[in-house]
Amino acid sequence: MKFMRFISAGLGAAALALSAQAAGGAKHPHAPEGGWDFQGPLGELDMDSVQRGYQVYREVCASCHSMRLLHYRNLGEPGGPFYDPEYPNANDNPLVKAFAAQDEILSTEPNDVGDYDYRPARTSDPFKSPYPNEQAARAANGGAYPPDLSVITKARAGGASYIYSLMTGYPEEAAITTHTIESVGEDGETVTEQQTLIEVAEMSVFEHGDSHYEGELVQPVGQYYNPYFAGDTSAQWQGDPRHAPPGGFLAMPPQLTPGRVEYLDGTEATVSQMAEDVAAFLQWAGEPKQTQRKSTGLAAMIYLAILAVLLWFSFHRIWRKVDH
Ligand code: HEC
Repeated sequence: MKFMRFISAGLGAAALALSAQAAGGAKHPHAPEGGWDFQGPLGELDMDSVQRGYQVYREVCASCHSMRLLHYRNLGEPGGPFYDPEYPNANDNPLVKAFAAQDEILSTEPNDVGDYDYRPARTSDPFKSPYPNEQAARAANGGAYPPDLSVITKARAGGASYIYSLMTGYPEEAAITTHTIESVGEDGETVTEQQTLIEVAEMSVFEHGDSHYEGELVQPVGQYYNPYFAGDTSAQWQGDPRHAPPGGFLAMPPQLTPGRVEYLDGTEATVSQMAEDVAAFLQWAGEPKQTQRKSTGLAAMIYLAILAVLLWFSFHRIWRKVDH
């Protein structure tokens, strides 16, 4: 009886979860084709990708998103993307020094007349923030706050796959149409308004068997549709109300376009490549010592396995004269 109750409670919960999915929710994030190198207990970050990802962060994301928990020197520490065994102390690493020196930050030391000057950053400084505070960040982004990206892969379900999916999930040009709507305002003047519609079934993320998303989403001004962003699209959906597409609207416009950065290592900068690289970089940033953690873990497992075998034999040796 108890068992049956347990089963029906489980089924009820599953039905609830499914209906929640139908009412909105976000599309499940996915890894890039070929998966992630860092997955699994033995997986390691692809450091070339993390290096490129740093370039994407610097050239694209850093104009809006801070990464306050990272310092320039972290880039050159063991496990970091620019670690060089020739410079065990990352503060001596010329590449890391150059990265820091390219950023001008506000000094915390007053000058001779008591003002604060800008100075080139040092390896010991935290990454330069684009805005002095949250209020300034919101004011520049239509009220929305671009979150600090230091630990974003830990803070969002799906981690690096979420970043990858979010960055590549925006509607393609072909799915977007803009209309001009004319209406008569209160004082009798004609008011023209731009309206952006998203043809959801045209989006490549919905290609496979998602034909019930025939219809359009009316994109609110300053907001951008993304099927991976947690939200609710039912109020903006003009198609079948039972099949409002998953996802939501966020204040971040699509960031990656082909060739948006010119990779120093010559890799072709496709949208998918840049999204994968920046996600790998953020994965590293969320846990800069993950490579060491995994290799220490592996050594500990081997040690414990050998210890277990030794214990097994000594146990039998010690008790060999005792009947049991
Ligand atoms: C023009 C400014 C701007 C740039 C450039 C930018 N973002 Fe954003 N980003 C935002 C804003 C604003 C938000 C907050 C959106 C919201 O909550 O509606 C945001 C939110 C995010 C989020 C959080 C989404 C969530 O689940 O809450 C992630 C992750 C993100 N951005 C990653 C990136 C990455 C990676 C780049 C670089 C490739 C980037 N952003 C470039 C403005 C920007």
